[in-house]
Amino acid sequence: MFTNLINWSKDNYINLPWRDERSLYTTLVSEIMLQQTTVSTVRNHYNRFLETYPTVEKLAQSTEDEVCMAWKGLGYYRRARNLRKAAIDIKEKYAGVIPLDYDDLVSISGIGDYTANAILSIGADQKALAIDANIERVVSRILGIKSKKGPKLHKILKQRFEDGDLNIKKTESYRDLNEAFMDLGRNFCQARKVTCELCPIRKSCEAFKSGEPLSYPESPTVKTAKYYDLKLLRVFIKNRKRIKGYSKSEKEWLAGQIEVPTFVINSEDESLKQYPKLTKKIDLEKLPKFKTSITKYKITNYIVTLTDKEFESFSKSKKYQFFTQDETKTNFATSATKVFKKLNEA
Ligand code: ADE
Repeated sequence: MFTNLINWSKDNYINLPWRDERSLYTTLVSEIMLQQTTVSTVRNHYNRFLETYPTVEKLAQSTEDEVCMAWKGLGYYRRARNLRKAAIDIKEKYAGVIPLDYDDLVSISGIGDYTANAILSIGADQKALAIDANIERVVSRILGIKSKKGPKLHKILKQRFEDGDLNIKKTESYRDLNEAFMDLGRNFCQARKVTCELCPIRKSCEAFKSGEPLSYPESPTVKTAKYYDLKLLRVFIKNRKRIKGYSKSEKEWLAGQIEVPTFVINSEDESLKQYPKLTKKIDLEKLPKFKTSITKYKITNYIVTLTDKEFESFSKSKKYQFFTQDETKTNFATSATKVFKKLNEA
């Protein structure tokens, strides 16, 4: 049933860099990267990261800042910190060797159900199903399962897999099957768009046969998102080639990255605690500004350029210090780099 699908995947995607020279470690790295980042972005950063951290050992010896630097461009930096923690756990608890037992894998910091199954199936070519959003959707369509996306559907899919509904020939591999499902989900079997006429498995697909493939699986009812307007003041203080900033803590957005001093001018959401309130009157009219958004906030960022002396009278609720402006050395948050860019244009 899956022969055409696996062949199609191999013919088209064998060259993805993480499919080139595999090990359990490279699978761990690539699967963490691929969890919230597209294949094309990971493609651009994967080799560089592995050149910096070619082994579990090297990664375990790194500092958090170093790993976040090497993670630049991939976003969601919590993953970089978790990956480092996983390497430390593997070094300390398993002598640097990634274990091949599900329970051992999920006991490692930063490795959850998905990553454990990805290491078993894609890394070790064992019989396992790594249920990410793509596999959840693709397999639900192939098997004709209408349940709502989420933990219940996850359980059903796991059970059907264990019951043998996705069995392959002895000559075929579960690594290839998992990857083929993922490739299909990215290409012909997307959440809101299907191209069934090009799909190598359409003849065996229950959703295709039904004539309404998009109705599998059901989407959870989503509340319409509420957005909040937020006005922030970004303070630019330069001393020689160094910029005043602070390192964002675990409790803040973009933890571990370096931000310029930032203050809330006005927030529709009273509960926002990311930045201190601006306690001084500032004429915003003539200040350069740029727009950004993060989670539920639509942000207007005003930029004020001050001397270190002028900044003394601002509230000091963060630990401010000077960082080199060289972006290859300091892991500035995107908002900070936008401040520099805007001032350069002005
Ligand atoms: N998404 C998650 N893991 C993947 C993989 N190994 N190949 C392609 N897409 C993926």
